[in-house]
Amino acid sequence: MNKTITYSCPSNIALVKYWGKKEGGIQLPANASISWSLSDLRATTTIQVQPKEGENPRLTFLLDGNPKPSFEPKINDFLKRIQPVLPFLGEVDLRISSQNNFPHGAGIASSAAGFGAMALALVDAEGILEPHTDAFLQKASYCARLGSGSASRSVYAAPAIWGQTKAFAAASDEYAVPFTEPIHADLSQWTDAVMIVDSGEKSVSSTDGHALLGEHAYAQARFQQAQNNLNELLQVLRSGEVARFIAIVESEALQLHAMMMSSIPYYMLMRPHTLSVIQEIWQFRRESQLPICFTLDAGANVHVLYDSRYQAQIQNFIDSRLLVYCQNGLYLRSATGGSPEKR
Ligand code: PMV
Repeated sequence: MNKTITYSCPSNIALVKYWGKKEGGIQLPANASISWSLSDLRATTTIQVQPKEGENPRLTFLLDGNPKPSFEPKINDFLKRIQPVLPFLGEVDLRISSQNNFPHGAGIASSAAGFGAMALALVDAEGILEPHTDAFLQKASYCARLGSGSASRSVYAAPAIWGQTKAFAAASDEYAVPFTEPIHADLSQWTDAVMIVDSGEKSVSSTDGHALLGEHAYAQARFQQAQNNLNELLQVLRSGEVARFIAIVESEALQLHAMMMSSIPYYMLMRPHTLSVIQEIWQFRRESQLPICFTLDAGANVHVLYDSRYQAQIQNFIDSRLLVYCQNGLYLRSATGGSPEKR
């Protein structure tokens, strides 16, 4: 096999968070989650596939055109995990070259977009499923999940649900599925502006953070709350109750960080400016009554989510009251939704 395939894949932001893994499998979520893809924050990945030269398959990985051998062990683990469903990987050498369209060191996790793009390109390289069909995307989502759980959700333009839930019969722990029902107009055109309050490395990785849920005193209650929140959020996406949407999304962000702060050992990824941005958003929302809220990933940066129909007023708020809290005034804006693309 001699092929070169390029995919670009969006990152995503969870509205109901995946935090904690189920036992008895690889990278299975303890609770279901749902996310919006971020069409303007992407990884673009080119995979060159060649018949293997040596006895074992060989991997070369480049980031932004430069060899990144330090990433290769993690990607090799990923390739081993997906080989049972992509057996051709046992017979080929791979050269994988990836780049993100957002700055490195912005403190933005790129693993969801990166593993999403790699999974799409590898499933395409196998050449069995027709690209963009449901079966193709499901297999790519399955593979992406084995790289990074949240990456499973990045292959869909529609809001993506990952993890079994009574609220959505098609959902699975093995792969994400798109929520294809009509979304109310008041929740269908939101934008994410990510305030980069701290571009440093996280003190605790997500992998270690997930593992701390194993012995966490509040784990079962948290998993139950996430399931309830997902159930309600799906109703809200249909009905357009923006106030409930905001309450669920902000509570999810704070619960995620509350779990970190109450893990043993405990830790904290929020920084003083994280809290300042949150306070400003609350105050602005009280004053303006506009549809705006925040969420957080496993990091200090604040995702400001808002209805893009109010772009002008909210841009003014960001410029005048939030940028002072951003490192070098940096923030990244993205529409929500957006599909992966074959290039
Ligand atoms: O995909 P991972 O293992 O990096 O976990 C990410 C978990 C959160 O980003 C904190 C939440 C989520 O659902 O994306």
